[in-house]
Parts: sequence; C-alpha cells; structure tokens
Amino acid sequence: MNPRIPRRRSLLLSAAAAGAVIAASVAVVGTAEAASTLGASAAQSGRYFGAAIAAGRLGDSTYTRILTTEFNSVTAENEMKWDATEPQQGRFTYTNGDRILNQGLSNGAKVRGHALLWHAQQPGWAQSLSGTALRNAAINHVTQVATHYRGKIYAWDVVNEAFADGGSGARRDSNLQRTGNDWIEAAFRAARAADPAAKLCYNDYNTDGINAKSTGIYNMVRDFKSRGVPIDCVGFQSHLGTGIDSTYQANLKRFADLGVDVQITELDIEQGGNQANIYGTVTRACLAVSRCTGITVWGIRDTDSWRTGANPLLFDGSGNKKAAYTSVLNALNAGGTTPPVTTPPVTTPPVTPPTTSSPPPAGSGCAATVSLNTWNGGYVASVRVTAGSAAINGWTVRVALPSGGAVTGAWSATNTGTTGTVAFRSVDYNRQVPAGGSTEFGFQGTGAGPAAALVCTAG
Ligand code: XIL
Repeated sequence: MNPRIPRRRSLLLSAAAAGAVIAASVAVVGTAEAASTLGASAAQSGRYFGAAIAAGRLGDSTYTRILTTEFNSVTAENEMKWDATEPQQGRFTYTNGDRILNQGLSNGAKVRGHALLWHAQQPGWAQSLSGTALRNAAINHVTQVATHYRGKIYAWDVVNEAFADGGSGARRDSNLQRTGNDWIEAAFRAARAADPAAKLCYNDYNTDGINAKSTGIYNMVRDFKSRGVPIDCVGFQSHLGTGIDSTYQANLKRFADLGVDVQITELDIEQGGNQANIYGTVTRACLAVSRCTGITVWGIRDTDSWRTGANPLLFDGSGNKKAAYTSVLNALNAGGTTPPVTTPPVTTPPVTPPTTSSPPPAGSGCAATVSLNTWNGGYVASVRVTAGSAAINGWTVRVALPSGGAVTGAWSATNTGTTGTVAFRSVDYNRQVPAGGSTEFGFQGTGAGPAAALVCTAG
C-alpha cells in the first residue's frame, strides 16, 4: 500500500500559537530538569511518546534498545488488525498481538490498540461477507478482541479510516459502511461493553488541518457526544509530506473542545529540508492543546518504515538519532499545557435505558438488569447482577429470547444453549458478590433482544 500524502502548503503555525507555547512553558520552569529521552520528556507534561512496533523486529537488539530507552507507549503496527487476529471466522489468534502487548506492559509502557474495524487488512472471509452477516461478524470481532485485551489497553482505535478523501466530508464506501451508517456507533458501543477502561478512539489520515474530511469527522464526533455514543478520543495519523497545514493545531483544538482527547497516532514526515522543523511544529501543537495526550511515531528507524524511501522517522537505519529527534526532544522539554486526568467512560452511559429487569432483590438472592445496544438484526447486551441482603457465591441468569434470536457470544459468563431460554452462569472471578454488591457480564445476539424479564438465581 502506498502512503497517501496530500498536497500541502508549507506554512508554520501562527505567531499567536507559538506565543501560547512560550507562555505555557513558563509555567513549568523550575519544575523539572530537561529529560534525555522522548518518553521521559513527554511524561513531564503528563503525556506519552510512543512508537508503532512489529513483532518480527523484537529480536533486533538495536531496535529493542531504542524502543525500551526512548518510548513509553507502543502500538502494534499490524498484529492487532482483523486479518491478524481472526484469520478464520470465529478462530482468534493473539500470539503476535500478545507479544506487542507484553513488550509494552513489561516495559511500563502504555499500549494503544490498533485497529478493531477498518476497510483494509480484513481477512478474506470478512471481505466476502455483507449485510447482517458482516455486521454481526464485525461486532463479534470488536467484542472478542476488546474482551481478550480487556483492562490492558490504554486506547483502542475502534474504527480506522471510515471517511472519504476529498471535499465531500462523507463516509468512505466500504463493505462495513454498506451494512448501515450506524456501524461506527455499534462498534463503539460494543467496544465499551467489552472493555470499559479503554479510551475509545476514531482514527484517520488526511485530517492534518481544518478541511472537508476532518470536518466530516468533527461532525460525527459532535453527534456522538450529543447522543451519548461512547467516544473518548480522536487519532490523527499525520503521515506528512514536506509541509504542514497552518491549521494543524487549531484542528486538534476544535476536536478537543468537543470533549474528547486527541492523539497523534501514526506520525511520520517525509525527509526533506523541513523534516526536523515540521516534527517540532507537530510536537509543539500537541503540547499546546491540553487534551492532546500523546504522540506516536509510525516506526523507529527509517528502515523500519512502511514508507520506503521517505526516511520519515526519528532514527536513521543504523539507529542514530536524526536532527528530527533533537527537534522533538527540545520541543517536549520546552513543556506545555498539562492534560486533564480523564478516565473512561467519559460519556454518559447507558445510551439505552434498561429495557427489561427483574424486581430488585428484596431479601437474599439476586436480581439482573439488562441494557441493550441494538442495531438492525442484532444487539449487544450488558447485564448487571446485583446481590440482595446476603452475599452470594455463584449466580445464574436465565434469558428468554424471542424465536429466531440466538446468542452469538458471551463474556464474563458461560452460557448453556444459544436459543430459547439461555442460562448464563458466573465464572470464577465474578462468582462471589457481596451483599448489595453487583457485577456485570455481557452477551451479543442476533434478532431482537430478550423477550421477558431476566431471572437471576443465586447459588
Ligand atoms: C501499515 C503498516 O505500517 C504496514 O506494515 C502494512 O503493510 C500496511 O499498514 N494507516 C494505518 C496503519 O492505520 O495501520 C497503516 O499501517 C498505515 C496507514
């Protein structure tokens, strides 16, 4: 695949923006020594500095030395994509994704998950699906992968590159888009249900300034926020050419003002006269926007880059620091605004009020309430199990499904049967619920949701 580098004007950020950076840096003078690595200097203002990494390169000692020294966040370059994690439908392979995860976690780094749904790098079986079958497969994929990595991912790119290039500001045509315009919100809701602790991002390219494409995305995010669709962040890939749009920082800021974090997720900049300067400009733009929580470069050395010949990264093929590296480090050490501490979910759940519930437990025993996120042909159900006046040790929730409906997956519970009345039984880690306490499990299904109140039995 070729990188898509748009035509750009070579303009630096305005003097006003530069002034804001200087003013903000005054606030941190005296609070910290200049740090000597990218991760440590970003951490001084509460941010991360990450790299996309490839499992196949982890045996290269120069690569891992730079990785563990310089970066405090990692993204899997390919290993968590749909084709890598679900090569056959319903058969999940996490070996390489887990290697990236463990490389990051064992090094104290954040891990960005990339990417749950995308029109590219789909397994062959998904490429040939359409309609409800594809929608259900896609939501199942989101649920399964986000559940596998539950509690370990800092931020997920839930949906990648769903908007068209050019002046339309519209969605890109794809098999996913043809399942219905609500596919993106269905994916975000399923991701939230599966991993409530991860920040959920929309990620795209050619959004490096205020333009028709970024405005289309801006309008979607504004709509999601107004309707309570769970979205926490927007990723700006920033695969840049030899210039940078003068509205780069203003664009980050307008998204942040919608109440989402922003992140630079795949930064690489074509080598040319301005490479070091543009790296500095992008870094300062992030530092000037308080909700810009971090920057990720898309590879470590120029020879690791997907943009063959562009030499777009911070280290040369021998692992030496380039001028661009120094420019980024100096910008990070100059300091900036500090991101607010936000913990997802930052939107207001639930989107759909509980649709069916059993009465609250009056005495001992338990009750179960369900909240549904539905789409045409399927749903994701989140169930809360609440103990009554006595602690319980094990629970079973029975769910009556309408005829034609079936359960296609469950998390934090094991189900007996998939049609008719389906019993969901507690698993080891959520068996014990203290008096008055509660725990959650979920399932997804085809057809309409539960047809009657859920029945909870303790013991
Ligand atoms: C690229 C990888 O770097 C390549 O190794 C792979 O062959 C194709 O994908 N936008 C994205 C990334 O979101 O996943 C892409 O990564 C680069 C463009």
